[in-house]
Amino acid sequence: MVEPIKRKTLWSVLRNCLRASLALWTVFVGVVLLWAVARETLTVEQMARVQARSAFEKDAVYRQWVASHGGVYVPVSEKTPPSPYLSDVDERDITTPSGRALTLVNPPYMTRQVHEMALQLHGLRGHITSLDPIRPANAGDEWETKALKALEQGEMEVSSVEELDNARHMRLMRPLITTEACLKCHAEYGNKVGDLRGGISVSVPMAPLQTAAREHIATLALGHGLIWLLGMGAITIGGLHLRRFARLRDWAKEQSGDHYGRDRRGTRQKPR
Ligand code: HEC
Repeated sequence: MVEPIKRKTLWSVLRNCLRASLALWTVFVGVVLLWAVARETLTVEQMARVQARSAFEKDAVYRQWVASHGGVYVPVSEKTPPSPYLSDVDERDITTPSGRALTLVNPPYMTRQVHEMALQLHGLRGHITSLDPIRPANAGDEWETKALKALEQGEMEVSSVEELDNARHMRLMRPLITTEACLKCHAEYGNKVGDLRGGISVSVPMAPLQTAAREHIATLALGHGLIWLLGMGAITIGGLHLRRFARLRDWAKEQSGDHYGRDRRGTRQKPR
């Protein structure tokens, strides 16, 4: 008995190639889309970091301005009582010729009040902190303490995405280095010019950026979906043309019985 052997026609070979092309195209578009989504996520983080950096820089410039004047005098009010930490400073409290009471506001005092306003107005958080705080309430949280230790090791910036009050935030901290202007008050705590005095940490909510990114990702997915469909259509139409051609070839070969040495039932031909 002669065993029937499965015939390999041109169409069966081409069909496998076409199936492989469809699969490859799908994988290719999928990978490109995944890459674009991953990039988008990275871009969101970079944008949040840039926002946090500019928030820090603004803070630092205003602080520097206040420090360069050795603090500023503001009217005493319920919100701004004289700072107990400045009680040793000469002329912490002064009275204007007309009798208004003014008190000296040091850089962190100003920064604190500005940070409170920023949180209320824009949800932006800022915190001036140190590993060795003069004012105990200035102590950092766990993340800030870790960041300050990294700054002490010489890092110039620490940033990461963290959960804060059940929402994702980009947290960023940069150092505050002691300059001549700081010594007026900080010399008594043993600080020298060039010392790392502490840092300002700022936190930017990720939600607005993530909403924008989600919209962009939806557009990307739609665009890639359309390109994928176009490719699938093109491969299918090409495949249909090839099928007609291949089937004709296969049919012709079958007619001539010249099927890789086998006839249409798959049995070996007698050598002529
Ligand atoms: C007018 C006085 C004054 C000047 C000038 C001043 N500081 Fe301070 N600083 C203080 C006082 C007082 C505190 C602690 C109480 C508070 O937070 O108000 C403080 C707190 C800080 C803190 C927060 C951590 C802590 O120890 O509580 C940092 C960081 C800091 N200062 C850095 C600086 C740097 C850097 C400069 C110079 C660019 C500077 N300060 C200039 C008075 C001053």
